[in-house]
Amino acid sequence: MPELFSWQFAADPYPTYHRLRERTPVHRTTLPSGVEAWLVTRYADARQALADQRLSKNPLRHSENAHGKGKVGIPGERSAGLMTHLLNIDPPDHTRLRRLVSKAFTPRRVAEFAPRVQQLTDRLIDGFAGRGEADLIHEFAFPLPIYAICDMLGVPAEDQDDFRDWAGMMIRHDLPDGRRTPRGGVARAVKRMRAYLAELIHRKREALAGDSGADDLISGLIRASDHGEHLTENEAAAMAFILLFAGFETTVNLIGNGAHALLRHPAQRELFQRAVHDGDEALLAGAVEELLRYDGPVEMATWRFATEPLTLGGARIAEGDPVLVVLAAADRDPARFHDPDTLDLTRRDNQHLGYGHGIHYCLGAPLARLEAQTALATLLRRLPDLRPAVEPDQLRWRGGLIMRGLRTLPVRFTPEC
Ligand code: HEM
Repeated sequence: MPELFSWQFAADPYPTYHRLRERTPVHRTTLPSGVEAWLVTRYADARQALADQRLSKNPLRHSENAHGKGKVGIPGERSAGLMTHLLNIDPPDHTRLRRLVSKAFTPRRVAEFAPRVQQLTDRLIDGFAGRGEADLIHEFAFPLPIYAICDMLGVPAEDQDDFRDWAGMMIRHDLPDGRRTPRGGVARAVKRMRAYLAELIHRKREALAGDSGADDLISGLIRASDHGEHLTENEAAAMAFILLFAGFETTVNLIGNGAHALLRHPAQRELFQRAVHDGDEALLAGAVEELLRYDGPVEMATWRFATEPLTLGGARIAEGDPVLVVLAAADRDPARFHDPDTLDLTRRDNQHLGYGHGIHYCLGAPLARLEAQTALATLLRRLPDLRPAVEPDQLRWRGGLIMRGLRTLPVRFTPEC
């Protein structure tokens, strides 16, 4: 059984999670960063923890154990002044900010964006369809979400490649030539993006004041008001940053892990392809939910900290202790899901925790669903004999705490004429 956080564990964490769930479902461990934290692996405990207001999201409220070492949260967000975003705050601040952003980032805005996502998807596939081989992570799953969110936010086309590079540095994405993010590169990238966003927000605010505002998401965030309250420039920058950060690597990994799972399960892939052919939207939507449950991009929900002593799953958690809810383990809990290790695109009653639960439930879920469904359906429609170019044991998974995803996914197919 692989040890927690070893490279073998990164390749297949599920047997280890099964063992934890059975033996110590709320398990205290030392993370690779040296921080001590509790891991919650049962579905019922996970759901309860995600909705428990005694578990704070504010990193300034947790113990010296983690805080003193500055090892929680997004690298660089503290020094860049980007801390006041939804994933780091509790009510009442969270309630106010979430209400404001929800007025701009609406399901309708996402639905109207569908043709653009289709266009971006086709453009990326055009880039490799004639070649007969590709790396689906570098050439497809990685660029799609970043261009999509840039477009939606209103980042001008000529600046989007800078954004792609900063975002790549922030998640330590390997470049196609094998280079990796240099030391200190993550914090530098966050700083550059912060400076860029501040200027962009300023320009858009001026355009709105001069009546020449656009209908993009940043302009929507500036316009949004609730009982006469608006986002400050600082809050708008932190909000744009978190939309980008929370919506980027997650979606890269949903497309990457999803494509990988489909390619490795021929009967399920055939079902998916038939649904694409028949235009069976209900099956496709359910399939994306199941891919998220089966091998989701968010392995653990973001940090929580006990604001008072509490008991969870039989464990006594002290005030200030960090708690990590392991969504990947909860979503394979046999007490909640029948035959949880089987990929079943027709699964019913699939109330997985892949988008979280409670007041921090993923704000971008409609956009993520749109992007993943468009990406996977278009890929298998245009390249129907898509197949893996390497064996599963040759694939490398990115070892991170919160996220789960592949470094590369080489594929072959008959070139498009
Ligand atoms: C929150 C998953 C895509 C924006 C969350 C949470 C999860 C999650 C698990 C809750 C974290 C917690 O409770 O600690 C995912 C997955 C995605 C995805 C699996 C893709 C497959 C997106 C996209 C956006 C986005 C595309 C926006 C463009 C957010 C925001 C929050 C959030 C702003 C914080 C909400 C709050 O605290 O009120 N997401 N996400 N996410 N997500 Fe997503």
